[in-house]
Amino acid sequence: MTAAFHHRSVLLDELLDALAPKPGGVYVDATVGGGGHSVGLLERAGEGTRLFAFDRDQSALAAARERLAVFGDRVTFIHSSFDKLAEELAARGVETVDGVLADLGVSSPQLDRPERGFSFGHDGPLDMRMDPSQGETALELIARLEQDELADVIFELGEERRSRRIARTIHEAYDAGELSTTAELRAAVHRATGGKRGRRDPATRTFQALRMAVNGELTQLDALLEALPGLLADAGVAVIISFHSLEDRPVKWFFRRCPELTPLTKRPVVASREEQVDNPRSRSAKLRAARREPRVEAA
Ligand SMILES: C[S@@+](CC[C@H](N)C(=O)[O-])C[C@H]1O[C@@H](n2cnc3c(N)ncnc32)[C@H](O)[C@@H]1O
Repeated sequence: MTAAFHHRSVLLDELLDALAPKPGGVYVDATVGGGGHSVGLLERAGEGTRLFAFDRDQSALAAARERLAVFGDRVTFIHSSFDKLAEELAARGVETVDGVLADLGVSSPQLDRPERGFSFGHDGPLDMRMDPSQGETALELIARLEQDELADVIFELGEERRSRRIARTIHEAYDAGELSTTAELRAAVHRATGGKRGRRDPATRTFQALRMAVNGELTQLDALLEALPGLLADAGVAVIISFHSLEDRPVKWFFRRCPELTPLTKRPVVASREEQVDNPRSRSAKLRAARREPRVEAA
């Protein structure tokens, strides 16, 4: 594995238990990242299993390629966002698969590399794109949005009630030419909120909101969910791990309401105490799974 890519997969055993991969099956990892879940899947499934590994981040794919090299041509790597799962698979002659897994959000290396601009823990340019080869950066998004629109983004995607004040100080900083780095964004949020008092940095919600907006994360998730009934073979399973309620809610409702799917998890599966102590990132993880109902043959 690429030395710089350290990401600890969350809920690995729970995910494999839900997915129950079988020898000779065809699977999709929609968010391969460092490849941890994919390795587990291929090892558990055994001989003849094929995997289509997606990521919109080329550096994640490069790390996954290295880590999964032992599985040879059983793995196909695809640089694409997961809203295009079905068309990318169809282009490779694959219509249905036995399982789909998605481990949403960003990886530790994305957060930890200052140049990616995701984190205020490391000062970097205000970028936040999971795929730096395309789309608008966080700074460009801020520049494009009216103050009210920016406040709406921060309110809806960050669930931040001080969104109006924060949008104002962000725009003031931008107009003064003092908003090109994550540290400057954090400082602007602190000016609106009175700075850090408790354990949680007041900029956390604003960073989350901008990251989700830059990467269209909820739209991506909706597209992934909508594709599942068509993509899953009869009795195929989808497993989704999410990290906050804005992601978990649509997964929960889609699995409940989609007539072609049967939820396999009444309540979300969460990390054990041991995993939570061992890997703090797992504390907010929620896993849900659903199975494709058999298709009814036309008479
Ligand atoms: C939490 S990490 C996955 C870690 C991986 N499961 C492992 O065990 O190493 C999430 C990965 O999903 C990718 N990603 C997030 N949203 C995506 C999307 N809409 N389409 C494709 N990849 C996405 C990110 O670039 C990141 O590499």
